[in-house]
Amino acid sequence: MYIRSFADSDGDGVGDIGGIRARLPYLVNLGVNAIWINPFYPSPQADHGYDVADYMDIEPEYGTLVGFDALVEDAHGRGLKVILDIVPNHTSDRHRWFQNALSSRDHPDRAKYHFADPRPDGGPPNNWTSAFGGPAWTLDEKSGQYYLHLFAPEQPDLNWWEPSVHQEFEGILRFWFDRGVDGFRIDVADLLYKAHRLPNSPPGKAPPAGAAGPNYEFRIGDQEEVHEVYRAWRRLADSYEPRRVFAGEIWLAPDRTAQFLRPGELHMAFTLMDAPWDALAWRARVDAVIAAGRANEAPVATWMQSNHDTVRHLTRLGGGVVGTRRARAALLFLLALPGPLFVYQGEELGLPEAEVTNDMKQDPQFIRSGGTKAARDGCRVPLPWAVGQPNSGFSTGEPWLPQPAGWDAFAADRQEGDAASMLAFYRRALALRGELAPSLDGDFRWRDAPAGCTVLERHAGSRGHLLAACNFSASATEIPVEGEVLLASDTEARVTDGRLALPADSAALLWRR
Ligand code: GLC
Repeated sequence: MYIRSFADSDGDGVGDIGGIRARLPYLVNLGVNAIWINPFYPSPQADHGYDVADYMDIEPEYGTLVGFDALVEDAHGRGLKVILDIVPNHTSDRHRWFQNALSSRDHPDRAKYHFADPRPDGGPPNNWTSAFGGPAWTLDEKSGQYYLHLFAPEQPDLNWWEPSVHQEFEGILRFWFDRGVDGFRIDVADLLYKAHRLPNSPPGKAPPAGAAGPNYEFRIGDQEEVHEVYRAWRRLADSYEPRRVFAGEIWLAPDRTAQFLRPGELHMAFTLMDAPWDALAWRARVDAVIAAGRANEAPVATWMQSNHDTVRHLTRLGGGVVGTRRARAALLFLLALPGPLFVYQGEELGLPEAEVTNDMKQDPQFIRSGGTKAARDGCRVPLPWAVGQPNSGFSTGEPWLPQPAGWDAFAADRQEGDAASMLAFYRRALALRGELAPSLDGDFRWRDAPAGCTVLERHAGSRGHLLAACNFSASATEIPVEGEVLLASDTEARVTDGRLALPADSAALLWRR
């Protein structure tokens, strides 16, 4: 959940911890078993919380530690785990360590960051660029040295070659684990260590924008040493009861991502399912991730379609009626796979990417790149909760990002009583997954399927088989199957005489004894 836009409890137009707490019953009804909350730490919000000024407190506009403890207790009481977001690659420039670093070249905290002398011509130490546009270096005029930031200048990169950084972060993990937090999503988890001595990226061989990219010959991040960090974190997590988990945000190709999931490292690494809507493309993506996982003895793959950085998948899949049909089918496809699925707030309401006019956009990626890089505002627009209330029930005050006209049509309360709604469908699908998951084997196989379709089969020991059939094509099809339909994304899907009729852009889960 993107806390800023989830639910506001105090009328300042910004979501908060109280808003999450008030909506816990909604989350339990939805059928999720954990929540991941985007950063809520004290922050100047240069990158909406991904610029952390203090890792062991809470931004006042989001709440207090006392309120957070109450949220954790309440969530646990309802069977929900709580996962936070940790940002170890960079701090805010307002963080005490960076302020200390700027205060004097001799301050011990200076070693926590990457400061380097200019090139002889006075330019930045190397040619790396920021993911938000422009050089990855900013001159600190006082000392005459540059500091590195792979994101905004307000997000100086930490130097993980420096041992005190490790100690600080282990202390931060303990601080939250001791409060009962169940795990962390790790921001840009592969980037922590930068290539030794900060060499220039050879042209064409390095990812274009500072951040990591798949399979480039030269890697700014993704250095071998990062794995030792996560092995240490894992040992710490395993010393708690119940055990704590880590999910890495890693933008590398499957084979490199899976290296982070080797025994003794992270539990999860996200796969963003953004392949084009095509049976072969989806199957290939799944196969690549699963194969890379197997080669590294990784536990399972972790799926997601949308998050606070992507265009909402309903829109990516075509938008409108078609995008909605495909989003329903995609949910069943992914829920049938082994491994956790992360649902991004609002996808259960069938939200499309919202239109935000340029003058209202707030994303630094858009603003700092002079509009050349995508704005992430459209997926961050506050949620619609209730019809006919100010700001669709998100807040009594003006929301920090404007909601588009007609947002009420997606409101949660409007979908509550409508069995055909996206919300009702998500609830049925997640409940079914909850019932089936414990009995399903970790493995699966693809069965023969007509062109444009996939059929996946999983065993439930001696009890039977789960079949998931998905028709990615624009025409109805019939698939020979045995079994009965448990849930379908389209009411017209049905089995007659051993043949499953599957309309265009639809999917069905079936059970066979
Ligand atoms: C991650 C976050 C993104 C943020 C960036 C820098 O990719 O998901 O929102 O801008 O890291 O922290």
